Amino acid sequence: MADTLTVTDNRTGKQYELPIKDGAIRAMDLKQIKTGPEDFGLMTYDPAFMNTASCRSTIAYIDGDKGILEYRGYPIEQLAEGSSYLETAYLIIFGELPTKAQLEGWTTEITAHRLLHENIKKVMEGFQYDAHPMGVFLATVGAFSTFYPDAKQIFEETSRLKQVHRLVAKVPTIAAYAFRHSIGRPYVYPDDDLSFTGNFLSMLFKRTELKYKVNPVLERALDVLFILHADHEQNCSTSAMRTIGSSHVDPYSAMAGAAAALYGPLHGGANEAVLRMLQEIGAISNIPAFIKKVKAGEGRLMGFGHRIYKSYDPRAKIIKRTADQVFDVTGKNPLLDIALELERIALEDDYFISRKLYPNVDFYSGLIYQAMGFPMTMFPVLFAIARTSGWIAQWEEMLLDPDQKITRPRQIYTGAKRRDYVALNKRG
Ligand code: CMC
Repeated sequence: MADTLTVTDNRTGKQYELPIKDGAIRAMDLKQIKTGPEDFGLMTYDPAFMNTASCRSTIAYIDGDKGILEYRGYPIEQLAEGSSYLETAYLIIFGELPTKAQLEGWTTEITAHRLLHENIKKVMEGFQYDAHPMGVFLATVGAFSTFYPDAKQIFEETSRLKQVHRLVAKVPTIAAYAFRHSIGRPYVYPDDDLSFTGNFLSMLFKRTELKYKVNPVLERALDVLFILHADHEQNCSTSAMRTIGSSHVDPYSAMAGAAAALYGPLHGGANEAVLRMLQEIGAISNIPAFIKKVKAGEGRLMGFGHRIYKSYDPRAKIIKRTADQVFDVTGKNPLLDIALELERIALEDDYFISRKLYPNVDFYSGLIYQAMGFPMTMFPVLFAIARTSGWIAQWEEMLLDPDQKITRPRQIYTGAKRRDYVALNKRG
């Protein structure tokens, strides 16, 4: 059996044999298929990249039909069970689980880089008191490029590593400052005695006590949520990171763009949208009417459906379990009952079954975050902290991939044919 595809162009009667590698043909191989010398050659039309692989990657593997997610080959369930966010971030960025010494070195570096330049605080203070923390977050990440001009040396390994340390370490500090700014509380400096997640909780919620007492259940729950959100291959924000990075800009500028992509309600803003939806539904008795509206095309059931998963999102299963542990500490989120009933009804309804719409990662995560004391506006920021490791790994993979160039899709022009300019006083 030959690994080729034979194509007959019925416009010319010519036949072409295209190589197939890893289940794909190269779109550039279609360019030779022409009707004549003037013809540009055949293109593929794939809005929203529904069936186009934009890269080769070794970072995350997803089987959407079977509900499988792996980072560097390790199942997400095992990482959520046994790993920490920092260890998983190391795995995602460097490709292998760290040895004990490597993990200690990595943790020391991240701990050392948690502080922000004092002028960054001034940048953040310039925002209105009611600025959305995600807007503050992405603007601040972008501003980093002006504080670290050495980040432009993207083809120097030591410089790249420095930015990796800075980014992973500093994003929780930016997030916490954005939050404190929004509630008018003084910023809390990082505490070196605390874990990555424990310190984040301290920077968010510490009041006047000398030392913040971290609740271990909440610390672990947040760490698990960070593990689950660390990477998800070529999603909208990661594609943005790669696309912007392909112009060889510094990683902070590229990541500001990735964070902007994550801000949208169809991506990282979905868990905020889920909570707003649950609040709007308000009571279990209102669910049937809500489902009817969704089926009539008036709005979506937020937290349901996924471009890749056509079965239960494996992350959603883990989050559902984590929710129970968190609610044991915080008390149950009153919206949980509405969410559970909504899921039950939707999973029995032909509209959702036939379209293979199942709960995704965002359906329950917002309920946990809210119970832990986060305002809804912080949800996409939490996602961004976790996804930073994935974005960086994907950015670096793109930079070092000899197949990659600056991203530049083609288009099919459907506008007006050439016409002559008409002076304003002669237009009808
Ligand atoms: N509620 C109701 N109908 C839906 C939903 C939904 N949540 N999602 C998809 N559909 C319907 C859609 O109307 C369409 O129906 P029809 O074939 O009759 O026109 C069909 O299912 C296919 O939808 P699509 O829009 O072509 O699917 P997509 O792959 O472009 O969209 C999605 C994927 C995640 C944007 C979409 O499912 C959605 O909007 N979900 C709600 C938002 C959400 O939860 N987003 C978080 C995604 S997971 C976290 C992340 O990766 O960021």
